[in-house]
Amino acid sequence: MIDLLICPICRLPLKKLGQSLKCEKNHSYDFAKCGYVNLLNPGKKNNAKAGDSKEMISARTSFFASGAYSPIRDFLCDIVSELSPLVIVDAGCGEGYYSEKLASIDTHPCVFGFDMSKFGVEHASKASRINGLENTFFSVANIFSLPIVSECADVVVSMFAPVANEEFLRILKKDAYLIIGAAGVSHLKGFKEAIYDDVYLNEENNPSFDGFELVSRKKCEYVAEICGNENINSLFKMTPYYHRTTLRDKEKLNDIEKIRTEIDVDFFIFKKL
Ligand SMILES: C[S@@+](CC[C@H](N)C(=O)[O-])C[C@H]1O[C@@H](n2cnc3c(N)ncnc32)[C@H](O)[C@@H]1O
Ligand SMILES: [Zn+2]
Repeated sequence: MIDLLICPICRLPLKKLGQSLKCEKNHSYDFAKCGYVNLLNPGKKNNAKAGDSKEMISARTSFFASGAYSPIRDFLCDIVSELSPLVIVDAGCGEGYYSEKLASIDTHPCVFGFDMSKFGVEHASKASRINGLENTFFSVANIFSLPIVSECADVVVSMFAPVANEEFLRILKKDAYLIIGAAGVSHLKGFKEAIYDDVYLNEENNPSFDGFELVSRKKCEYVAEICGNENINSLFKMTPYYHRTTLRDKEKLNDIEKIRTEIDVDFFIFKKL
């Protein structure tokens, strides 16, 4: 898998030398103990503080363990599996929840997970090792400047993450696919009702991207029961609402032990033209 990686500074190929990846110009990136590499361009200022915090990543890990989002993950894997990919890039992979399952689809694809959050990538890499996955590679990286060669990916997956239109076009093979998962209109409606007096539905998604044609859209919809106060708070921390909610509204969740909520995720399948 490493043969597909390029240097984030000079864009030349990277080779493994000892415990580092190096390019011809001698730019060098060390492997962390748990196997990931930081391939953020050190010259770009904003890189250092970007990406989800440790608290957000661990909230997500603990919420995912409840299984409440596993139908979303299965739904994604069914879509991707039909495309028989050999190389998948999970762009904005977070703590690797989706990447890990993608690595076990029938074609046994190589799965690259890239995220700006060191904490996310660290978790993904550790979990992958513990589960003995040899077809995953995680790296701290900016999805708007991915450290991977052009036209190498069969599928780019973007789950609840920013979309880097041009960069995804660059790394995808001709006729390859971009799969986007985004919150649908009713996503987490019941959850929001537990916090806010006036609940608005999410805006309808109608994405379009240069160089891609939308070939299909699908919806993953069900009602989830979120049990346990810790779990409820973990879900809250992984949503964008957490940082915009007043203390008074936040406190409404203090004594709640169970919430039934709509899960509504739109999937968009785009093909590179
Ligand atoms: C809402 S989270 C979704 C994470 C994961 N796909 C999931 O659904 O569990 C969005 C992720 O995008 C990452 N992210 C945001 N901007 C990024 C960028 N420019 N490059 C790489 N990752 C980025 C964040 O660090 C965060 O982990
Ligand atoms: Zn270099």
